[in-house]
Amino acid sequence: MCGIVGIVGNPNTTEILLKGLEKLEYRGYDSAGIFVADTNSNQLVKTKGRIKDLREKVGTELTGTLGIGHTRWATHGPATEINAHPHTSTNQKFVLVHNGVIENYQELKDTYLAGIALESETDTEIVVQLIARFAEDGLSVKEAFKKALAVIEGSYAFALVDKADSDTLYVAKNKSPLLIGLGADFNVICSDAMAMIDQTKQFLEIADGELVTLTADSVGIEKATGEKVERSAFTAEIDLADIEKGTYPFYMLKEIDEQPAVMRRIAKEYVTDSGEFAIDANLLATMQASDRIYIVACGTSANAGWVSKQIFESLAKVPTEIHLSSEFGYNLPLLSEKPFFIFLSQSGETADSRQVLVKINELGYPSLTITNVAGSTLSREAQYTLLLHAGPEIAVASTKAYTAQIAVMTVLAKALGEKKEIPEAFAFNLLHELSLVATGMETMISEKHLIDELAQAYLKETRNAFYIGRSVDYYVSMEAALKLKEISYVQTEGFAAGELKHGTIALIEEGTPVMAFITDAATAAHTRGNVREVESRGANVLVIASESVSKADDQIILPNVHPLLTPLVSVVPAQLIAYYATLQRGYDVDKPRNLAKSVTVE
Ligand code: G6P
Repeated sequence: MCGIVGIVGNPNTTEILLKGLEKLEYRGYDSAGIFVADTNSNQLVKTKGRIKDLREKVGTELTGTLGIGHTRWATHGPATEINAHPHTSTNQKFVLVHNGVIENYQELKDTYLAGIALESETDTEIVVQLIARFAEDGLSVKEAFKKALAVIEGSYAFALVDKADSDTLYVAKNKSPLLIGLGADFNVICSDAMAMIDQTKQFLEIADGELVTLTADSVGIEKATGEKVERSAFTAEIDLADIEKGTYPFYMLKEIDEQPAVMRRIAKEYVTDSGEFAIDANLLATMQASDRIYIVACGTSANAGWVSKQIFESLAKVPTEIHLSSEFGYNLPLLSEKPFFIFLSQSGETADSRQVLVKINELGYPSLTITNVAGSTLSREAQYTLLLHAGPEIAVASTKAYTAQIAVMTVLAKALGEKKEIPEAFAFNLLHELSLVATGMETMISEKHLIDELAQAYLKETRNAFYIGRSVDYYVSMEAALKLKEISYVQTEGFAAGELKHGTIALIEEGTPVMAFITDAATAAHTRGNVREVESRGANVLVIASESVSKADDQIILPNVHPLLTPLVSVVPAQLIAYYATLQRGYDVDKPRNLAKSVTVE
């Protein structure tokens, strides 16, 4: 989703902005632009399309010491050059970039901007015009910005430049992420530390409602009341090598391959050799005191939630519900007496999840965020955090974060189960089982050529497909289907195998690909029955089965692992199927159309 970079006090501004935007590409965007001050008249360059197009358009002439840059994921108005940021006020005094959505833009326009002809269809332009309007009334830049912030409703991260002052950058945020980076003789801003990690490792957080005045050698943070805020910097633990593709053609393939290492890392981070858990005792005590777990998440994280529900109920014997954030927030179900909330979020920034957390905090319920990003908004605002330790995930289609979420949830469920003295929690050695999972994943990863061929055979020409399974295989089917549809654009449903016959089987026709997960002896015979039903109607069936329940002509055989952990292995061929099907169709695996990695608007 929209990304912001900015810099003040550095003669290499243009290149740093462009490189920063390249690092933010993974978030998803459809147009981009930069503004560089202290230079000739070509200060603003915008384009529809990719950063490489922007780079070409910028050329080599644009120099300056202050600048702002933006990648836009269209919300108000289509992806066009005019709608791309930065936006300039009609009086040419101010330039602004924005991440978020201004909810009362129409009201602001009607109240304050009558008679001003707007150039774009964006809510952002309203804000820059508003600031100009207030400044024309005689307010200083800061006061005009502050006055605008006081009347704006919605989510935002803003970076504002007064064209007459190439020494100062003004920034503010509410709900949308924005960090300040401290350089040597210069300072930067970015939506994500990754964008500026080659400039500095020292970052400062900005809280919602604060306004920051940034120069080359100073950072002035103040609250809306004017009260000054002192805040110490933190060191971003991001290794530059982690965010490079290396020899891989796509991040997604790199991230699929990293999964065995992530499983081993999670085991090392959370379980000691003697089987003790490195988990906050207060967190476990709070969970023990609660009577129900509510997992709240979106997309792939919600799919990981479904698998985790079963793990929590088996090992910790606590009723567990899974909810989509976008539904939960505005349609609160009847809660139990002592609920405990788990927010699953790779990025820790998803606005849909955040709005639920804000509500939960208002209600005073305890919460835990499980995320891949230390210091992310959901992590800061929940009572507890557990990290995924998966390393940065860049491809829009989430892979290693999904398996890391299930692994960390298993650690937590087992720790809680042992604390509650639930016999099932003591029945296996987690270190050993995670190590078997890592080896099982490696076996699947070593069969890439076979999976490439299967994707070619089953999916090359199709417009739709199904993944089916029962119980946990159904939950994995949902994730397998999401993976395939989001990057290959094959319309795919993840379906409960037994439910097909109650309506959806009407869609099966000659050649429809149906991929069936069969990993559990208790449901294997029934799922095989459903396979026969679709085969009889012409489906082209591919079976992904665990060794223990496999049959001679099944196409993909999964190594056996602990039954609760099977999804960690069974999802890997599905990730690879999605990857190869997309390559074969000639699409960009890492940057699917219309999608954003970090969705910071509701
Ligand atoms: C976006 C991404 C999905 C992701 C979802 C939730 O829609 O494209 O891949 O699963 O957000 O993201 P989160 O960071 O909260 O896990």
